[in-house]
Amino acid sequence: EKNGYDHFMLKEIEEQPRAYRDTLRGRIDEDSQSITLPDMMMNPEHIREIKHIQIVACGTAYHAACVGKSIIERMTRIPVEIDVASEYRYRQPIIQEHTLVIAVSQSGETADTLAAIREAKLSGARVLAITNVVGSSVAREADHLLMTWAGPEIAVASTKAYTSQLIAFYLLALYIGQSIGSMDLAARAQLLTQIKELPDQVQNMLGHMTQIEQIAEHIAGYHDLYFIGRGLDYTIAMEASLKLKEISYIHSEAYPAGELKHGSLALIEDGTPVIALATQEVVLEKTISNIREVKARGAYVIGVAFEGNMELAQAADEVIYVPRTDALLAPAIAIIPLQLLAYYAALARGNDVDKPRNLAKSVTVE
Ligand code: F6R
Repeated sequence: EKNGYDHFMLKEIEEQPRAYRDTLRGRIDEDSQSITLPDMMMNPEHIREIKHIQIVACGTAYHAACVGKSIIERMTRIPVEIDVASEYRYRQPIIQEHTLVIAVSQSGETADTLAAIREAKLSGARVLAITNVVGSSVAREADHLLMTWAGPEIAVASTKAYTSQLIAFYLLALYIGQSIGSMDLAARAQLLTQIKELPDQVQNMLGHMTQIEQIAEHIAGYHDLYFIGRGLDYTIAMEASLKLKEISYIHSEAYPAGELKHGSLALIEDGTPVIALATQEVVLEKTISNIREVKARGAYVIGVAFEGNMELAQAADEVIYVPRTDALLAPAIAIIPLQLLAYYAALARGNDVDKPRNLAKSVTVE
């Protein structure tokens, strides 16, 4: 079932253009340049009532939630809180009237996420599930359902399920935005055009990723590395760091780029690899000054940026370029070379890529 691939993870990484197309299919109305999500069964009146949103999820799905928060707030101005599901229940969350709780889970069977859904429902919140498995516990217990169509994910490290969750969040944010009138038509149409281009962009990019293997072999010799970025780049950094840790067993941490100098900069030594995400060009100058800070301490900086970003080429030791899209859509493109980086680093270290030590695909204990 690996279809000639050595590992499920690589197969699943390469399936992402297809997963994007399937998750988008039938959900964009070309005539009205709007989103239709009939299977979610949440009508415009429900949407207009929403005053607060809380998103709960674990691990990689939580990292999708981090992106979800950012884009929903940017497109709708509705305040969004995010919680790691295992923390939500015990912090006595404030669930007011007209709170929508969104649970994100690839498997739909994660015990902590289910417990968070039950807590939210007890408090009277409406619950929307974003999941990849039809008929899963999360799907059954939620009031509303937004499916991702990534197809079965076998590798323990989540790749196509994560990016399909991002697509689901773009659709949802646009849908809420059009229902409450928080975005003008031109901005929406522009974003829709770019979303529709993502599958082809990812497909083209996947054919030109030979540079990643050599970077992976370089970092495979280190014990620690850092991912830095600002705004959405920080959310990409978190997911890239988790992916690398779980399959290569190299320790890494993700930091908001401006935060390193408040303590962790002390860990940078001669040669320490730092992966600097720089797709968010409104903060590019700031990110570049953070790159200079780490380089001055000896770091070896690998940048990730949109094609044509020449400033980064000057500031970093090398740059991974990804196809240009809207800044809000960057996570759906920029994570992909970093998934491959984790994959090749794990291979270089001789690890079992699809079944990393200590981990299970579906975590059904709290
Ligand atoms: C990491 C990974 C895990 C899962 C987490 C939640 O690659 O796969 O962090 O994302 O266990 O699982 P789901 O989404 O099934 O609830």
